[in-house]
Amino acid sequence: MKLKIVKGTRDIRNEELVRFQIIEKSAEKIFPLYGYNEIRNPIMERTELFAHGVGEETDIVGKEMFLLEDRRKRSLALRPEGTAQIVRNIITNDLMKQNKTLKYYYMGPMFRYEQPQKGRYRQFHQIGAEYFGVETPDADLELILMLRHLFNDVNLKGVAFQLNSIGCLKPNCRPQFKSNLVQFLKDNQHNLCEDCQKRMTTNPLRVLDCKNEKCIQIADGAPKIYEKICDECAANFKDLQNLLERHNVKYELNEKLVRGLDYYSRTVFEVYSSNLGAQSAAGGGGRYDGLFDIYGAKTVPAIGFALGLDRLTMLLDKPKPKSEGFFVIGANQEAVIKLVSEVRENGQKCLYDPHFASMKSQFRQANKAMAKKVLILGEEEIKNNQIAVKNMGTSEQITISTDQLNHQFDN
Ligand code: HAM
Repeated sequence: MKLKIVKGTRDIRNEELVRFQIIEKSAEKIFPLYGYNEIRNPIMERTELFAHGVGEETDIVGKEMFLLEDRRKRSLALRPEGTAQIVRNIITNDLMKQNKTLKYYYMGPMFRYEQPQKGRYRQFHQIGAEYFGVETPDADLELILMLRHLFNDVNLKGVAFQLNSIGCLKPNCRPQFKSNLVQFLKDNQHNLCEDCQKRMTTNPLRVLDCKNEKCIQIADGAPKIYEKICDECAANFKDLQNLLERHNVKYELNEKLVRGLDYYSRTVFEVYSSNLGAQSAAGGGGRYDGLFDIYGAKTVPAIGFALGLDRLTMLLDKPKPKSEGFFVIGANQEAVIKLVSEVRENGQKCLYDPHFASMKSQFRQANKAMAKKVLILGEEEIKNNQIAVKNMGTSEQITISTDQLNHQFDN
């Protein structure tokens, strides 16, 4: 039998895993400072949750969902994103009943049936955060400040925020812009790519961020949405920009940023890096004040983001391997294993060679494992209740009595 990994999935290990952990640990440290609690949601949901929330006409729902049927022929989807399911969680557990605001963060795998390439996978990993109950741009600001804090903490350079407002559903706002845009696109229809000719009727805003050269040119001449939204949305967007400037947040306006999910309103943003090549968005988010309504629940204003870990990790500096812990070397199996256990129970990392190969080989293994100190148990040492301790950094070696061992531990 030839074993093969599923297309678009990955085994993540060693140095790359360390990069994942650097970002995950930083998020676990920083997000709670802003009042976010972790939330864990199922990997599967009923398909209709995403179909209604993210939108039937979006690529994510229309082309990219991993669907399965349970034994009673109900359609389930491997989650393509986390926002709809947190909203589902809040609604099914009635969590807004006791709370005026709620803040959650999450991390885990998401699934989209896309054509895999560098930075784009079928199982990928997100860290996201969602803020419920606040309508003012203070919430937008706070979320962006939290992201900046995270990026600084992991020393991530070269990422930029891009910002847009896509207005609201009032007739004189996005709907009016949409019909102007459709008119403009109709005038240029013959130059649009095949997909965009369809999108023109199903999801015209998406034409603005099509990657086809000709469509890019047409989109460049299209009306700008943030200039056409209603007065309230425009004032809201201006307020956010003022707040960002007051907090020295660098951002660019991108009038073509519309995002690939239907639930957004007003502020949308993405985290970009030119170092990512074609898959340049390391994260994205925005406001979704209308999503609870879509599910028939009481309105709750909300904003959130998700970072693509598979992409962000590509932007981190190479983690420096550091030497740590102990490696016990010796030929007396029983004595070695006893010492190893004692060191571990004192909260220190400790390894040994389970095959008890030659001393030379054991030293080589200690080197490879990057042990800080090697504890040598020769026959002499065992007889005298002693341990020889070699500092692998300085090559200095001393002999200590076994009851002095704790002096060797890091605290
Ligand atoms: P999204 O833009 O679809 O937003 O995904 C967020 C990030 O996930 C992207 O910027 C990208 O870094 C990463 N990503 C998406 N698809 C893939 C893939 N196939 N392979 C690797 N990375 C990928 C959302 O998912 C929204 N739920 C974000 C949000 C939260 N909006 C409000 N709250």
